[in-house]
Amino acid sequence: MFRLFPDLSEDLLLNLFHKGVHAQWSSRDLDWESPLVFTQAQCRSLGRILTPVYLGEQSAMLGAAAILPQMAEAGESTAQVYLCSFMMDEGRHFEALTRLYHHMDQEPIPIRQMPSMLRYHHRLRQGDRVDWVWGILISDLFAKNFYQMFAKSQPQALFGDMSRRVLQDESRHQAFADHYLKAAIAHLPAERLAELRIMRDDLLRIMETMHSQLREDADRIDLDGTAFLEHLTTDIAQHAVRIGLDAPPDGPGSQRRRPMLAKTVDLTSARPHYRPQTTTRRPQLAAREDLDDDCDTCYLAVICTSRLMRAQAR
Ligand SMILES: [Fe+2]
Ligand SMILES: [Fe+2]
Repeated sequence: MFRLFPDLSEDLLLNLFHKGVHAQWSSRDLDWESPLVFTQAQCRSLGRILTPVYLGEQSAMLGAAAILPQMAEAGESTAQVYLCSFMMDEGRHFEALTRLYHHMDQEPIPIRQMPSMLRYHHRLRQGDRVDWVWGILISDLFAKNFYQMFAKSQPQALFGDMSRRVLQDESRHQAFADHYLKAAIAHLPAERLAELRIMRDDLLRIMETMHSQLREDADRIDLDGTAFLEHLTTDIAQHAVRIGLDAPPDGPGSQRRRPMLAKTVDLTSARPHYRPQTTTRRPQLAAREDLDDDCDTCYLAVICTSRLMRAQAR
């Protein structure tokens, strides 16, 4: 697994790494005296709506750390180097949002009050590194669409400026995921492609559940959650075509595409495509009844210790 002198040839991933190195920033570069342009009630709603994004930043950071050895094992040296810059980006977003919470005197929604967040991040961690990159692309598109609204609507305000900086990082993350997945998908069997489409649909359903729980908060800050999800769904569909997962809308086979953003939310129904969680090394979500209901750390422990790679993966 360990290669002392790997081939770090110039490719797009190494280029994205260099771009990331030159585009560093931190929360200390923001002007914290800038107006927030939110009332106290709106700050509370923003803090609640930000919660899935905030957990997403942490989950991306932890997931990248777990997947790094898998890329090393596969000899994907430039992907490894890129991923280190990705972790720095996600760490920066996590730190900046934490500071924003303190600045607004708000807190995220406890995970026990919105378990769909945990379900989302558990779903993201099923499968191998290709599944993970696909899930991260979907999450990055979610983050991009979310931050874009504030970067456009309030560019002079504190959160608008923060959003603009995060968006620059997210554009590199999308470029990485598009490139990595396009190369990987070309070699995957039809069964694996079907799994990736199912994962997309599962994640979108969970997002819809989160949206229904946050509808009032969205209204309070003038965020049209339905339009947001529709736009996100279109965005994901375009990337699915770009990476070769789906046929173009008018191309051959396009009529076989699964409908996205199903309107029925039934997360408890049996899903035969879910890979069974039988390994003793992997904590079971179903076992969370054993955890302390008042302790978010228990839930994060489940996220942190999930395995990313299937035994048969390369
Ligand atoms: Fe991020
Ligand atoms: Fe990201």
